[in-house]
Amino acid sequence: MSRSAHPAGPRHADVLPEGHYSAPPADLNALDPKVWAQTVERGEDGVVTVGGIGVTQLAEEYGTPAYVLDEADFRARARAWRTAFGADADVFYAGKAFLSRAVVRWLHEEGLNLDVCSGGELATALSAGMPADRIAFHGNNKSPEEIERAVRAGVGRIVLDSFQEIVRVAHIAQSLGKRQRVQIRITVGVEAHTHEFIATAHEDQKFGIPLAGGHAAEAVRRALQLDGLELIGIHSHIGSQIFDMSGFEVAAHRVVGLLKDIRDEHGIELPEIDLGGGLGIAYTSDDDPREPHEIAKALTEIVTRECESAKLRTPRISVEPGRAIVGPTAFTLYEVGTVKPLDGLRTYVSVDGGMSDNIRAALYDAEYTVALVSRASDAEPMLVRVVGKHCESGDIVVKDAFLPGDLAPGDLIAVPATGAYCRSMASNYNHVLRPPVVAVREGEARVVVRRETEEDLLRLDVG
Ligand code: LLP
Repeated sequence: MSRSAHPAGPRHADVLPEGHYSAPPADLNALDPKVWAQTVERGEDGVVTVGGIGVTQLAEEYGTPAYVLDEADFRARARAWRTAFGADADVFYAGKAFLSRAVVRWLHEEGLNLDVCSGGELATALSAGMPADRIAFHGNNKSPEEIERAVRAGVGRIVLDSFQEIVRVAHIAQSLGKRQRVQIRITVGVEAHTHEFIATAHEDQKFGIPLAGGHAAEAVRRALQLDGLELIGIHSHIGSQIFDMSGFEVAAHRVVGLLKDIRDEHGIELPEIDLGGGLGIAYTSDDDPREPHEIAKALTEIVTRECESAKLRTPRISVEPGRAIVGPTAFTLYEVGTVKPLDGLRTYVSVDGGMSDNIRAALYDAEYTVALVSRASDAEPMLVRVVGKHCESGDIVVKDAFLPGDLAPGDLIAVPATGAYCRSMASNYNHVLRPPVVAVREGEARVVVRRETEEDLLRLDVG
């Protein structure tokens, strides 16, 4: 990460302490479109708007903290993925990034499919009317109950993750008098360039069946023998928040290699491959993500080329973007509570949420930016750390950023690019209530996930 001294000198020190930050942006009031949702802009009065609605109005009506989601942006990104891959491929939105019934409806309307990885996600998808045959069911430890529900519902595919699961799904499908369409998830042995906790294609980890040592080939052999299963393809997901396409290239090469071995051994050409999700987004201005059409072109070319050289029919490709669709479409709106300058270090800005609504900095050392959104300011930049209200010093939302030096309690600040893996990984730590998700579109706002209440908390307490 870039690291440089603040040219004008920060408010509390001449030399900046160690950190991840770049120099302060030339204009603290500017909003980089790379990290902010599409319809976000700063009005002439200095107040930031989204979908035409001011954040001050949103805070007044819905309270803070709140995740504010730009529906037009979500739909546009979903559509861009769909269009980029065209009719010969399928886009499965990864529900783990963020799922609600409204989102399921938008996906349905925009022609996307859905990847779910738990009974809860499946229930949400079905209850919002996603046709079961457009749902893929994932997970490294699906319970027998979850498998049964998925098979009964008629999900389009179950992605098998272990030898035991091959037998389990086959058995359940057979006992229900069904033949379940399945893919086998393999680990191709790629070291994806991302955080260790979100890399998933190296062999020493819990997901998938290793290609190495002939394990994947053996899994295919077993699946093909079982009457309850219809093996439709091979699945690979190499990790998350990845910018470099070379990992996908190696994965595609190895998956096609397996398809070739399957053809040679069994005389069948599996019709589908799924290359998973994992495409990175911009959390800060330093990140340069690729557009869906570039990704689609690159992946399609790799698979086509590999299949041509293996003399295979090109299989139908599917992908599972989660973060790349929802991540950039939302920001978290917070109210500043306390502003605590620490001489020679930095200023700690405490907000009314924290690690319970965004665990990513604590968990992955993730970087975010932040802006003052309830007004514009010409004050000198000050180096801040945005922290939450939890009883934990690792409760950091934005590790290093610049905000105007006149920041004061009651100001609203917003952290962009929080659409993915923030609400979905939110917790009730310290019995803090999880914030609502407010969707905004063309001048109208509506709550799509309501704020948790103390009643919600107490409802689970049976003591
Ligand atoms: N498909 C499979 C099989 C997955 O496991 C995942 C993510 C995706 C698709 C979607 O990946 P995406 O396009 O969103 O990168 N909590 C972490 C990310 C964990 C990702 C888990 N699997 C984070 O906050 O960065």
